[in-house]
Amino acid sequence: MVKAAVLGASGGIGQPLSLLLKTCPLVDDLALYDVVNTPGVAADLSHISSVAKISGFLPKDDGLKHALTGADIVVIPAGIPRKPGMTRDDLFKVNASIVRDLVKGIAEFCPKAFVCIISNPVNSTVPIAAEVLKAAGVFDPRRLFGVTTLDVVRAETFAQEFTGQKDPSKAQIPVVGGHSGETIVPLFSKATPAFQIPSDKYEALIKRVQFGGDEVVKAKDGAGSATLSMAFAGFRFAESVIKALKGQTGIVEPTFIYLPGVPGGDAIAKATGTDFFSVPVSLGSGGADKANNILEGVTEQEKKLIQTCTEGLKGNIEKGIEFIKNPPPK
Ligand code: NAD
Ligand code: LMR
Repeated sequence: MVKAAVLGASGGIGQPLSLLLKTCPLVDDLALYDVVNTPGVAADLSHISSVAKISGFLPKDDGLKHALTGADIVVIPAGIPRKPGMTRDDLFKVNASIVRDLVKGIAEFCPKAFVCIISNPVNSTVPIAAEVLKAAGVFDPRRLFGVTTLDVVRAETFAQEFTGQKDPSKAQIPVVGGHSGETIVPLFSKATPAFQIPSDKYEALIKRVQFGGDEVVKAKDGAGSATLSMAFAGFRFAESVIKALKGQTGIVEPTFIYLPGVPGGDAIAKATGTDFFSVPVSLGSGGADKANNILEGVTEQEKKLIQTCTEGLKGNIEKGIEFIKNPPPK
């Protein structure tokens, strides 16, 4: 039996992500939580003739407790999205406390669940979640993931003209680092199968993956950021975690993790100088089995990208940790 919970289930990402989870035969029980509209979203999805039993909860009547109790995996897309002219860091003010409070609920009601954080800024919200879980004495770094799959999906899509794959997802392109602008580092030299990018096209391709989110924010013109592609990516990641939990082997997904707590992570933390970093992670029934160090043997261009990434990332991580250790006055 697998129970999945979506926190922020009524939103632009939450609804299509819940739809995908509802239609996933690996999910037996799906709990939707949001501050608005979950009864309606759950009623709508409940008419779909798939396996998962669905329920919707609001904050009243201990809704968070009921949504989370017994959950094996919790996916969090709760929080405000960007508008044109904003950075992901501009979301911190509102989203930091939303993520903090939801993760407090996880610590209390389902401390063993796999936690997948979508809410931005991921570079800070994942450290926030780690600190909350640590403070509650239930932090298992192998079970906490920042969802960076959309960067991987974009890399596969935008590089298609060079990979030559009819199905772009057949090119495996590791994307490492964080999830905002220059902290996003596609490692095209480590793609399988290998392919070549003409040197005059390389920089534009890197920038497009790094700033792909801006393309959608601009096109939506004030109506939010990526939702449908994020639901696809969030589901892809959640499904991989569930498959691994059910015993499937050989599953590897890039994800933003606390390196010192995952086997293989120490060497990467030492090389990058950051404790949180996205790398391809081997998933198993207990979560992150191994952080795969693919930073060795990268090109000189990629080394420079990684250096720029870690400089930006450190401040984002520290900001998240500080928010919990020294909370701002209310
Ligand atoms: P949205 O505004 O459409 O939906 C957010 C939902 O969160 C709303 O339904 C809202 O009611 C709910 N919510 C707010 N406070 C809550 C709380 N305390 N508890 C439960 N639910 C709460 O936004 P969206 O477009 O779905 O984006 C959600 C978040 O995901 C944003 O922060 C966005 O930046 C982020 N995002 C991340 C990625 C990524 O790659 N990790 C990609 C796209 C978007
Ligand atoms: C994305 O990469 O699309 C998301 O992080 C949303 C955003 O703010 O760009």
